[in-house]
Amino acid sequence: MARRKYVVGNWKMNGVKASIADAQAIFAAAANHAAVDVAICPPFTLVGALVAAAPGAAVGGQDCHSENSGAFTGSVAASMLADLGASVVIVGHSERREGCGEGDADVRAKAEAGLSAGLSVILCVGEPREIRESGGAIDYVLAQIAGSVPDDFAADRLAIAYEPIWAIGTGLVPTVGDVAALHGAIRGALAARFGGAADDMRILYGGSVNGDNAAELLRAGDVDGALVGGASLTAAKFVPIVAAAAGL
Ligand code: PGA
Repeated sequence: MARRKYVVGNWKMNGVKASIADAQAIFAAAANHAAVDVAICPPFTLVGALVAAAPGAAVGGQDCHSENSGAFTGSVAASMLADLGASVVIVGHSERREGCGEGDADVRAKAEAGLSAGLSVILCVGEPREIRESGGAIDYVLAQIAGSVPDDFAADRLAIAYEPIWAIGTGLVPTVGDVAALHGAIRGALAARFGGAADDMRILYGGSVNGDNAAELLRAGDVDGALVGGASLTAAKFVPIVAAAAGL
């Protein structure tokens, strides 16, 4: 089964009710590129409104709690996202691993919660700058994969996003060769653990993807799409990335 390209917008803590129109414009333009799966993950506050405003489109959360309910002030359960009509959830983003102290076990529990709620999961990994500079990026990322990817899931319902922390929001990107090396190593580790199912899992690249660099990054070996932050907020910036994925 050929892996379909997958381009996902991570709006982070950006977007108010008026931004729904931007998301609608993105989905409308993305419909011209039917070979590419497109999803937008707005803040929790917009998930329900975006599902209503863009019927049939893939809308997701940027995080979820590992429990289904309970005394967890401020948290949102994966089942609540599913209840709103979301179809996907991002877990393990570095802004949560680093900023909220989430470790691999937490990320794995969140991924499991997302899967049991019926969502598909985008599970993020990626090394900090000092690890990259010391030559340890592959080992670091493979340890994150070992610790945070659940044991049991349908291959098409869990995507990995490789996002080097130093490339997020900085305008810096690894060389295409470095991206291909990391993605190849991730695919190899998934194959060692899951066998042939690894061929059906998508591995996205994230970190300063934009309309100018998307085609080159998406052509790299084992790159099945992109997780996009800053350039996902408007159709003018995001749709060229979708078009680049469609043109490969
Ligand atoms: P960026 O963010 O595209 O703004 O670098 C990517 C991400 O954090 O998912």
